[in-house]
Amino acid sequence: MIENKKILLTGAAGFIASFTAQKLLADGYEVTGIDNMNDYYDVRLKKYRLKKLRAIPGFSFIKTDIEKLPVLEKLFSKNKFTAVINLAARAGVRASMNNPRIYLSTNTLGTLNILECMKKYQVQKLVLASSSSLYAGQSMPFHEEQPVNSPISPYAATKKAAEMLCRAWHFLYRIDISILRFFTVYGPAGRPDMSIFRFIKWIDEEKPINIYGDGTQSRDFTWVEDVADGVCRALKPLGCEIINIGGGREAGSLLEIIAKIEKILGKKARLNFLPCHAADVKETLADIRKAKNLLGWEPVTGIDTGLFKCADWYLKNKAWCKNIATGE
Ligand code: UGA
Repeated sequence: MIENKKILLTGAAGFIASFTAQKLLADGYEVTGIDNMNDYYDVRLKKYRLKKLRAIPGFSFIKTDIEKLPVLEKLFSKNKFTAVINLAARAGVRASMNNPRIYLSTNTLGTLNILECMKKYQVQKLVLASSSSLYAGQSMPFHEEQPVNSPISPYAATKKAAEMLCRAWHFLYRIDISILRFFTVYGPAGRPDMSIFRFIKWIDEEKPINIYGDGTQSRDFTWVEDVADGVCRALKPLGCEIINIGGGREAGSLLEIIAKIEKILGKKARLNFLPCHAADVKETLADIRKAKNLLGWEPVTGIDTGLFKCADWYLKNKAWCKNIATGE
């Protein structure tokens, strides 16, 4: 254990945070994880991830919510955290249209609560999860200096607001902040509302795949362990910087991704084309030079290996995955 290296990790039962926790613990940090265990997607996945984390020495868990300021205050007063990694969020781009208020209260007000606690209890370092969806309408590859003032989803708007709060709290109170813009993160035990989890499960179960639009949209899919590595590297002092954490290569269109999954599973997909979704960006690709320069970070796992590993995890856990709800 690294002495005096106690990290508060929010959203600890979430997909990216669970991998981040594993990496932090392997690196010798002590991790206090919090999560409200909400049911935006099947809670069994969150419990599955948490069970694995609880088995690792140095990890402790408290079920609570970043929206509850008094509870957070108590947590900060009782623990001397060296840094906070805020990965708790409402994260569905399209789903954010259904209940925008909860996105605002978690992603923006929750971040504000954390910043206020950090100010009060003098915690110096924050890593905040932000999103590639802020780049809607910009030319690719997306780089951090582009003006991102035209979000097309409530989710992106709330993440932009959280970024702005970070800027102000850095200016006023000198909190050191790394704002990481993640690009469509995927991996084993991923989010069942996202494309790759769903497509693998639906193709294997021979169910129709719902595709928003014609399937020519593309994402700079980023492997979750690469992302966790980026998060850990971003704990270093930087001032206040926005950094893309993306694959940085063309991963191909959704139709190409589906074809790769078909090949891995040896099954044919049944495609059900739906209208384009208004909150979706058409394509994403990260310029990752800043991550290389500031963090020495580069993604290691490419899409072919990544998809293979996801399918492998799915097949090994197929009986258990059968009952995991994917939504539509
Ligand atoms: C993902 C995450 O869900 C966000 O939390 C994150 O902030 C964002 O990446 C990011 O990069 O910042 P998204 O890119 O929409 O959002 O990821 P997916 O849900 O995997 O969707 C990728 C594409 O597949 C989209 O065009 C979507 O419309 C499409 N899709 C997804 C379908 O056609 N069908 C589905 O069932 C699911």
